[in-house]
Amino acid sequence: MHNQPRVGGNRTYRESDFFPDGRSERDLPQGTVARGRLREDTYLYTGKVGNNVGLVFPMPVTREVLDRGEQRFNIYCTPCHSALGNARGMIVLRGLKQPTSFHDERLRNAPVGYFFDVITTGFGAMPDYAMQITPEDRWAVIAYIRALQLSQNTSLAQVPEQLRRNLPPAQPAPQTGGTEVTPPRQITAPAERPYLPQEEQQKQQQQKQQQPQQPRPRPR
Ligand code: HEC
Repeated sequence: MHNQPRVGGNRTYRESDFFPDGRSERDLPQGTVARGRLREDTYLYTGKVGNNVGLVFPMPVTREVLDRGEQRFNIYCTPCHSALGNARGMIVLRGLKQPTSFHDERLRNAPVGYFFDVITTGFGAMPDYAMQITPEDRWAVIAYIRALQLSQNTSLAQVPEQLRRNLPPAQPAPQTGGTEVTPPRQITAPAERPYLPQEEQQKQQQQKQQQPQQPRPRPR
């Protein structure tokens, strides 16, 4: 394979004398149909209209879309943004730069197209997730983020009458908008064992082995 002759030598688009027009590549046959890769719906794939981020979802947001979004969100976003979206995911608690909470005023008002752009191209310290999440799934994730945002910021008046009865009694609001990070639990090293000369150590070990094994209490 290494030494196989190729049109255009070893470089794509290199000039060649094989065809009369000097090009090494041929045009696609007329009527060729792109399958699966024709990105005709620009908005679906960029979340932008011209240079502006879009304000609407490119598809209807259904229960299935939300369920799919929840699942993808929990896989790809929670390690940093947490299941609640308050930016206290495990990786952040272990030292990664803390993102802005999705319940922050600015991100609550950010257009859906902005979220699409962040997932597609990355943002500062956050890598992009274009390879891992299909464009359709990215929109589903954003629909779920909108649901998360509503879950933490809805007035009683916005809840449909017949659902209000099922609500638990009022509780103090959880702290979600804050930016402080819970410090990781302190792990303390076990106290150092006092040094014992070798014979002393062996003696202790023998004593231990001679003691009858106490049955461990069974956990209830
Ligand atoms: C590896 C950790 C990590 C993962 C996973 C991650 N992010 Fe982020 N995200 C960040 C960090 C860090 C920032 C802040 C970056 C900065 O300010 O430099 C951020 C910022 C953001 C922002 C806010 C941009 C702004 O204007 O402040 C959005 C929106 C966002 N991420 C969405 C997502 C979504 C949706 C997912 C899942 C598809 C996701 N992120 C997965 C780490 C992550």
